[in-house]
Amino acid sequence: MEIRDRTPDDLDACVKALAEVQAGDRYPVDWPRDPAGWLTPDGLIRAWTAVEGEVVLGHVALTRDMEVTRLFVTPAARGRGLAARLLDTVRAAVETPLKLEVSSEGKAAIAFYERSGWRRVGSSRARWLNAAGEPALVHHYVSPPAPKSRLPRSGEQDVG
Ligand SMILES: CC(C)(COP(=O)(O)OP(=O)(O)OC[C@H]1O[C@@H](n2cnc3c(N)ncnc32)[C@H](O)[C@@H]1OP(=O)(O)O)[C@@H](O)C(=O)NCCC(=O)NCCS
Repeated sequence: MEIRDRTPDDLDACVKALAEVQAGDRYPVDWPRDPAGWLTPDGLIRAWTAVEGEVVLGHVALTRDMEVTRLFVTPAARGRGLAARLLDTVRAAVETPLKLEVSSEGKAAIAFYERSGWRRVGSSRARWLNAAGEPALVHHYVSPPAPKSRLPRSGEQDVG
């Protein structure tokens, strides 16, 4: 398994993976008319895929305003730390803090973000409808601080 930049040639396989996720988790709530376009939102600056051979196991994207979006892992590849590795890849690529939004219906995603140290900073109603047909309640999260590499002060011995 490797995580690498998504290329235009990967889009079909990403859409196939997204179809598995949508069938099991309703992410996204409704199947988009243009799934490849949905995976390429406005302001996209970079996207990554987790692949095993030709098969896409996971995906994540980053937009210009430092928002992590379109994160998913196919059902068969879950629970192996793949989502955590995808997020680590995004965080390693940029130095600024990241943000993301998650629907209150995304229980697995919320559990995952909170266990990974992301902090909820607010909630709001979205314009799109949730599975119950109501404007979705979305929670806003910011990334945990990046681990600092601590340099020894002068006179301090580095025993590490
Ligand atoms: C959320 C999602 C990306 C997690 O993918 P994953 O690869 O299984 O997650 P990981 O294996 O990296 O899990 C990392 C941590 O989250 C925890 N976690 C993952 N899924 C969980 C769940 N359903 N309930 C509780 N904890 C969960 C894991 O136990 C792990 O914690 P640990 O390292 O302390 O053991 C995946 O379930 C998914 O694609 N869901 C549907 C799409 C979606 O909701 N995307 C997010 C949109 S905002």
